[in-house]
Amino acid sequence: MEYRPDFRLRRMRKNPILRSMVSETRLSLNDLIYPIFVKEGIDSREEVRPMPGIHQLSVDALVEEAKEVHQLGITAILLFGIPDYKDSLGTAAYKSDGVIQMAIQSLKKHIPELMLITDVCLCDYTDHGHCGVVLDNGIDNDRSLELLARIALSHVESGADMVAPSAMMDGQVGAIRNILNQSRFSEIPIMGYSAKYASSFYGPFRVAAESSPQFGDRKSYQMDIANRNQAMIEIQQDINEGADIVMVKPALANLDVIHEAKVRFSHPIAAYNVSGEYAMVKAASENGWIDGEEIALEIITSIKRSGADIIISYHAKELAGAISSS
Ligand code: PBG
Repeated sequence: MEYRPDFRLRRMRKNPILRSMVSETRLSLNDLIYPIFVKEGIDSREEVRPMPGIHQLSVDALVEEAKEVHQLGITAILLFGIPDYKDSLGTAAYKSDGVIQMAIQSLKKHIPELMLITDVCLCDYTDHGHCGVVLDNGIDNDRSLELLARIALSHVESGADMVAPSAMMDGQVGAIRNILNQSRFSEIPIMGYSAKYASSFYGPFRVAAESSPQFGDRKSYQMDIANRNQAMIEIQQDINEGADIVMVKPALANLDVIHEAKVRFSHPIAAYNVSGEYAMVKAASENGWIDGEEIALEIITSIKRSGADIIISYHAKELAGAISSS
């Protein structure tokens, strides 16, 4: 006698309508944030070699790019600035006419509806490439806080809608929340790079942002990839200090951390699908070894399924057509 199972999961996989009816994870353009690099002193755009499709942009080219991104239905961008002058304290990061400040003003003038989030860090602006103040060959936490707060305030004064501190200094969210409160910007949200691991997946980004550390590494401030409990403490701490969104980064190597954060916390969870993850997909795709677009969709879906409410991804622009806004 032939065995005829009653229980058949294949019934609901028969056609696209059934599959979509039971789909547990839906991507929306509203989930996505597109990172963009703006550089001082260049003509228009310069390719970032390890990140095909990604460029360093002048302020004018940035406005064009942002218009295109906005027209595609992407509602928010994350901005990184590359100054033409770097020093040990990253002073170009909080100049009122700095590259990021000029970029924000120009974007707000031309595309006021686009949500502007700014990365708040020192590494793009310091000659040593570290995310904080170097003192006795170490990174001084509390002196860095003062600068990070100043940078965040200058972004907000220029018109940023949200700030995203990424330096992994203890107390960075609190220091920024404090200065914003004192400056009557208490309504500005903070997206903390809360659980940010020390990761070689940031390599291509450091080419794009010209921010490689000139000595040592970032392991004395970014998290050890081996730790998950510590990520929960970092996230809790950022929430205590007034973060509105908490982030796990990189995304793909830390889906377990994203998932646990989603289960434990009620705050929105962001995940950063970082430069190295993007570069791997692009490199294999350009060789014809994988279907880049399908793989990118699969990756973004898995990040969302793991628990991320918001996904920061260099794939956002190329995937916009495949993802609807709902
Ligand atoms: C700045 C910063 C980094 C990234 C985002 N903000 C680099 C780093 O910490 O070295 C990485 C993003 C990416 O790899 O796409 N501190």
